[in-house]
Amino acid sequence: MVLDFGGQYAHLIARRVRECGAYSEILPPDTPAATLKGVAGIILSGGPQSVYADASPQADRAIFDLGVPILGICYGHQWLAHALGGKVQPGKTKEYGSTALTVHGLTSTLFQGAPEHMTVWMSHGDTVISLPAGFAVAASSQDCAIAAMEDPIRKIYGVQFHLEVVHTPLGKEILCHFVQDICKAPLWSLESYAQEISEQIVREVRNKKVFMLVSGGVDSTVAFTLLNKTLGPARVFGLLIDTGLMRKNEAREMHDALAKLGYENLHVENASEEFFQNLHGVCDPEEKRRIIGQTFLDVQQRVAAQLPFDGLEPAPAKPERSEGEAGWILGQGTIYPDTIETGGTQYADQIKTHHNRIEQIQRMIEEGRVIEPLKELYKDEVRRLGEELGLPHALVWRHPFPGPGLAVRILCCRDEEARAGIINPEPRVPVPHAALPILSVGVQGDSRTYRAALALFTPPPHTPRDIHWDLATRIPNELPAYNRVLLCLTCTTPSHIVSSALFLTHERAELLREADAIVDQEMRRTGLYETVWQFPVVLLPVGAHPGGQSLVLRPVESTEAMTANAARLPENVLIRITERLVKLPGIDFVFDDLTSKPPATIEWE
Ligand code: XMP
Repeated sequence: MVLDFGGQYAHLIARRVRECGAYSEILPPDTPAATLKGVAGIILSGGPQSVYADASPQADRAIFDLGVPILGICYGHQWLAHALGGKVQPGKTKEYGSTALTVHGLTSTLFQGAPEHMTVWMSHGDTVISLPAGFAVAASSQDCAIAAMEDPIRKIYGVQFHLEVVHTPLGKEILCHFVQDICKAPLWSLESYAQEISEQIVREVRNKKVFMLVSGGVDSTVAFTLLNKTLGPARVFGLLIDTGLMRKNEAREMHDALAKLGYENLHVENASEEFFQNLHGVCDPEEKRRIIGQTFLDVQQRVAAQLPFDGLEPAPAKPERSEGEAGWILGQGTIYPDTIETGGTQYADQIKTHHNRIEQIQRMIEEGRVIEPLKELYKDEVRRLGEELGLPHALVWRHPFPGPGLAVRILCCRDEEARAGIINPEPRVPVPHAALPILSVGVQGDSRTYRAALALFTPPPHTPRDIHWDLATRIPNELPAYNRVLLCLTCTTPSHIVSSALFLTHERAELLREADAIVDQEMRRTGLYETVWQFPVVLLPVGAHPGGQSLVLRPVESTEAMTANAARLPENVLIRITERLVKLPGIDFVFDDLTSKPPATIEWE
């Protein structure tokens, strides 16, 4: 089990534990030791706080009495030292980045078999300066004498560096050694877990039926297929609400693929009018998400009421648990990273509200009226499960698509917000540039930002060079007004950039859908589709003249979408895509988004 001391570390650690062939959940840091009885081992994650700070997260000290191996990483390491009588010193020098580590391999159990010297990733201010009783130093770096410590008798280990990140090349081996050899954790596989999920579905659903919202994305399709397979189509009803914000032909393709598997229980409801009406005049990203979530629920309840069954019942004052109970529960395709991004773990800041975690759904979850069979799985596990269930490869490996669909990629602007971009406002930026008059969401130090994008301009052939990639890293670090850096793929410095009052309309959705289809087609044609995690195309209410608009290419490489790098596409592909996009009506500029996550997010809203 991983106890989460904050940030996004716990998530990565749990992911790596699964790669070591064991199962791990993420639990709040103060989970009572009694709840942890029977686990094979405990990992304490890193976190942004100092053990001496007020309200710093604390684990239950009774975990030391459980007699199971414990590994603390970064903050977890410092907390172990602090809790067991060692000393932690608030950092004078921060150690950050790749660091050479010297391992005391002959005596250490944790580093058994490891080379004497290795590179590790450090990111800390505080440092352990004296060991608790019973501990020995297991590794040191130049600035950190106690970079790792261990008490092999009690099987308690601490490492200051992050062994869960790829920048610690041997980190996974050390973690697997801890999980497999020290904890002797039972083997876990997706295949056996799929069986467990099915049993869980049967237990949770009892004799009810499941009403499942199928979004068109991979997750809900796999969840729907799994529910169908486990409970039989007669006990599952799928509703695909066509929001008018889906990808081109998506609803039809979904319907056909499921019908091929023999599942005819998917009803497609065209509710686009309702969505556009409710979103009319709305610009704020979080407000858009709330409205979309609510409209989903309204349409779903309306359709449910028209079903030949008893519809979704209002919440009972006290949820019944009797065996004879019938009725419906709501199915959702929520996967593990979704629950983290919404602040599902205690110390994570809320970056974006996912549509499947709005208040009303949250309440239903608490009332036990929602089933989310994939909520413990990561995306690649969901895809593997989908293929095992017989879904077509192309569908299962489709890029992730956000629940609110194109809405989060169509940026809007009110009259009073419409303004001109400023040309060359930053004396320290050595190439022509403009501050775009539009804000987008970013994430820095685990907190949400909502800031402007800086666009760079270059002479032909207008494709990114090293200088642009370098600026994309430096600008958000050094100039806090910006959280994104773009390169204009279609122009040298324009004389005007203006935003216009534009909202979410059928026409704009149609325009972006077409742009998205062009990108999809080009990426498949060149065989590059599966080399990127996702390739959002974003529509900005920004152009060379009033009413003009722009498209932004946002290809990213990622594994779980928690962090991402902007993908570097081959020049010919970028040029070809741009040539096609700039021909779309009303498109003045095409940009390439060069920013990684953090500091930007993958989607713009
Ligand atoms: P961000 O933009 O936060 O996106 O870097 C991370 C991943 O989440 C997807 N995303 C969503 N998925 N409902 C979803 O089901 C949502 O509301 C939502 N918002 C973002 C995004 O496409 C990326 O894969």
